[in-house]
Amino acid sequence: VPQKQPYRTWYHFQPPQNWMNDPNGPMYYKGVYHFFYQFNPYAPTFGRHMVWGHSVSYDLINWIHLNHAIEPSESYDINGCYSGSITILPGEKPIIMYTGSDSNKHQVQNLAVPKNLSDTFLREWEKHPQNPILIPPSGVEVDGFRDPTTAWQGSDGKWRMIIGAKNGDEGKALLYHSEDFVNWKPFPNPMYASENTGMFECPDFFPVYISGTKNGVDTSVQNSSVKHVLKTSYQNKQLEYYFVGDYFPDQEKFVPDDDLGGPNLTLILDHGSFYASKSFFDYAKNRRILWGWSQECDTTQDDNEKGWAGLQSIPRQVWLDASGKMLMQWPIEEVEKLRDNQISIKGEKLAGGSILEVSGITASQADVEVLFELPELENAEFIDESEVDPHLLCSEEYASRSGIIGPFGLLALASEDQTEHTAIFFRIYRAPNRFVCLMCSDHRRSSLRQNLEKSSYRTIFDIDPKQKTISLRCLIDRSIIESFGEKGRICITSRVYPSLAIDKDAHLYVFNNGRQSVVISELNAWSMKQAEFGQEQSIK
Ligand code: FRU
Repeated sequence: VPQKQPYRTWYHFQPPQNWMNDPNGPMYYKGVYHFFYQFNPYAPTFGRHMVWGHSVSYDLINWIHLNHAIEPSESYDINGCYSGSITILPGEKPIIMYTGSDSNKHQVQNLAVPKNLSDTFLREWEKHPQNPILIPPSGVEVDGFRDPTTAWQGSDGKWRMIIGAKNGDEGKALLYHSEDFVNWKPFPNPMYASENTGMFECPDFFPVYISGTKNGVDTSVQNSSVKHVLKTSYQNKQLEYYFVGDYFPDQEKFVPDDDLGGPNLTLILDHGSFYASKSFFDYAKNRRILWGWSQECDTTQDDNEKGWAGLQSIPRQVWLDASGKMLMQWPIEEVEKLRDNQISIKGEKLAGGSILEVSGITASQADVEVLFELPELENAEFIDESEVDPHLLCSEEYASRSGIIGPFGLLALASEDQTEHTAIFFRIYRAPNRFVCLMCSDHRRSSLRQNLEKSSYRTIFDIDPKQKTISLRCLIDRSIIESFGEKGRICITSRVYPSLAIDKDAHLYVFNNGRQSVVISELNAWSMKQAEFGQEQSIK
């Protein structure tokens, strides 16, 4: 491992080295959080013998890395143990359902159970003698049948799960039924099918309360107090789409709400580098927690030099917004244990064109929450409906026009002279009959290094003309910035690789490039301490 690691994170989950992708089978079991992940033990690139890495924690922040839970060993998984989920069966018996790439590189589903349920860390897992449990059905490509969800149990006692599938450019969420978890029957109709999306990777299906509470719901709950969320990672888009809707178990139908209309129609969990997410119900704190993989945006050569690739987001609590239309996401409260050295700014006016340093924290690892007071929105610049496109509004042309309300926000991982910075900002527009807000994480000046992917991530959302404030939180950690706009309504995860803004040379600023002033109603920033990652050398 190279000596200098400016991009290795301090408090995001990472294995000691090599390649990591999807989160797998997260669960809370008898006082311990388990986290499994797609891991290549041999290289910092995706490989042919993917295993399930395994780590445990008491707080989802500090981790102990264990030996791999499952590795390719049998004809049904010899070319890779791919993504899957855990279900906790009655009698407190966790069971893994994972995808194996078999000796013909066909994707099949397999089961594994803990060898010894009284081992607190469930270190060793045993593959089921009847594997493979499922092989690709007709109408599905043999290498497009993977990523089983956590199963849920209907009132008839039967288990149900979804498996992602593909046929050409069509993606499908296939539904299966079982009475004993070993013998599974396909349901004739898919839960969902989509055109031109490619593989329906890493589906997730779970209930959420409609009452506006942040509490989560166990995966099998189905009654009038919940709606359901179907999430898919569309391979062709490399983004996480989801639908909120109603699940009718008697007909095995999921009906997404279609009353959203307009450009907000597409719900995306995170507009940045965040993929293959998976949620679980945390019995300890009655919440649903979502993990997502944050992929590198540097080159393979960089990954080889770093000796590693891939991060996990800080686990996020998810719940249905009070409107009932979209999910809210917020970093789990445990991350706040790492906060140190608080700096606060209150009631400070940021005139148009001004910039203010937030000094006194380690800006390379920080947690920042800021609430801006907005000026009168009526003054916002006008755009017509044809321009209400986040890609256009974030383009060079628009960015160079001086704004009226915004851009304002944070410059994270900035060099002292600001030649390097990642700008996370809002900009408000008046459109016919509504106001829209652009939120952008702009990478264009994130590094002086060449050959990096520096496109920006952005989205627009409607805002209430009477809205007086807007909030932003950023979790900054050396090469990752997780941004949460509007208290978790909009999420954007960025991966950036500064060449100057490293360690003590990283700075944090608040800026306003709009003509109208905005007020920092309140800003709190903290240095973040390093999370602990221990390693268990031998399990025997
Ligand atoms: C998503 C994915 C999954 C698959 C896994 C293999 O990133 O392609 O569909 O199971 O990665 O590592």
